[in-house]
Amino acid sequence: MGFNSFRTCHLRALLAWISVALLIGFAGGANAAGIAQIVHARKAHFKTLGRTYKLLRDQIDRSHPHWRMVQVDARQIAVLSNSLSTWFPAGSGKGHGVGTRASREIWVKPAAFAQATQRMRISAQNLTRDAADHNLHALALDTRRLGQSCASCHRSFRSRSNFW
Ligand code: HEC
Repeated sequence: MGFNSFRTCHLRALLAWISVALLIGFAGGANAAGIAQIVHARKAHFKTLGRTYKLLRDQIDRSHPHWRMVQVDARQIAVLSNSLSTWFPAGSGKGHGVGTRASREIWVKPAAFAQATQRMRISAQNLTRDAADHNLHALALDTRRLGQSCASCHRSFRSRSNFW
């Protein structure tokens, strides 16, 4: 093997290494960006949920709720609660440099998390029915139950810190 072919051979190996390193780097970067996007969307969904829940409570505090608005809010909450389980794909928790309060327990105890999600979904469905029936008493009760389902899931699956 002459010096030149030895050198090209090394150069090829080096180039191969560089492209592999770049590929891994890009994949890692894309992955981190993907996780940031997932977490960002998740928080935005929860913010909408929080806002809508507040609107609903404001309506209930009025002696004559605006039933059309109550129906829209109840529907919104039901739609969000139906999709909640998809906001937590595996690998979208802590440890990627993206601030999230999603506790590791979500992925450690998937059955318990699914149950917490289901609890909220049932309250949301009941709210939709109460809104259609213009039943203020039931609406107030189910809104309180909904609030308890939020708090209960937060207690078990939302951590205090964004980073650990
Ligand atoms: C099944 C579990 C679960 C239920 C039910 C649930 N949450 Fe959450 N919530 C979470 C988790 C986990 C986070 C943290 C998300 C993150 O930081 O990535 C969160 C975050 C939030 C946030 C903060 C979003 C932000 O800006 O960072 C708000 C507001 C919120 N939830 C409101 C609600 C309301 C209102 C309800 C009920 C109507 C509710 N949640 C029901 C698990 C739940």
